[in-house]
Amino acid sequence: MQTISIAIDGPSGAGKSTLARRIAARLGYLYVDTGAIYRTIGYHMFTKGVDPREEPAVLAQLPEIRLELTYGEDGLQHMLLGGQDVTKEIRLPEISMYASAVSAIPGVRAFLLEMQRELARTHHVVMDGRDIGTVVLPEATVKIFLTADPEVRARRRMLELEERGTPEPFESVLRDIQERDWNDTHRAAAPLRQAEDAVVLDTTGLTFAESEEALLKIVEEKTR
Ligand code: DC
Repeated sequence: MQTISIAIDGPSGAGKSTLARRIAARLGYLYVDTGAIYRTIGYHMFTKGVDPREEPAVLAQLPEIRLELTYGEDGLQHMLLGGQDVTKEIRLPEISMYASAVSAIPGVRAFLLEMQRELARTHHVVMDGRDIGTVVLPEATVKIFLTADPEVRARRRMLELEERGTPEPFESVLRDIQERDWNDTHRAAAPLRQAEDAVVLDTTGLTFAESEEALLKIVEEKTR
C-alpha cells in the first residue's frame, strides 16, 4: 500500500499533539504521538530508579522493555509498558525530563526507529515528534514545523496541566520548556531542527481553531 504520512515536528508545547490528533481524526489517518513513546521509556527508567542521563544504565534496561502502542475505544493512543497501561503516568511533569534525557541517547532512538517506520509503512499517519521529517520519515508526504514563542507555549502548557489537575506555576513551566528546548535542539543524536522541505507554521498569534485550519490547508495543498 502506498501510504500517506504527515510529519509534524516542533518544540515542546507548540500544540503538536492536540493539532495532530485533530487533523488525523479529520483525515481518518492514524495519529502517532512519538513523544509518548519516549515518555514511556523515561517512565520505565523512573520506576526502576535509573538515572536517565546514565547511558550504559539506560541501554542495559532496553532489552527488558516491552512497549506496545494501542488505540483505545476512545480512539486515543495508549501506551502499554509490560502490558500495563501507563498513558496517564507518562504525562506527569517529572517524566518530561526523563523523556528528554533518554531521548538524547542514540541507542534509545535506534531502538524506537523501526517501530515508528513500521507504523507509517502500514497506515496513513499523522506523526508528531522532533525528528519525524528529518530522520524517521525523510520521505514523508507533508512535513510541517510547528512552533510558537516560548511564553505562549508555556501559557498553553500551564492551562493543559491545570485541566489535568496537576497545576504548575508559569515560571516553572516556562523554565521547563526552555530547558527542554535547549536539550532537544543541542543533543548530538537527531536534534530538533526544521527539515529543509518543511512548511513552518508559527501559531503564536493564532487561536487553536485558526491553527487547525492553517494546518489542514497546508496538508490539503501538499496532498492534492
Ligand atoms: O512531545 P513530548 O513533550 O511528549 O516529548 C517528550 C520528549 O521526548 C521531548 O523532550 C523530546 C523527546 N522526543 C524526541 O526526542 N523525539 C521525538 N520524535 C519525540 C519526542
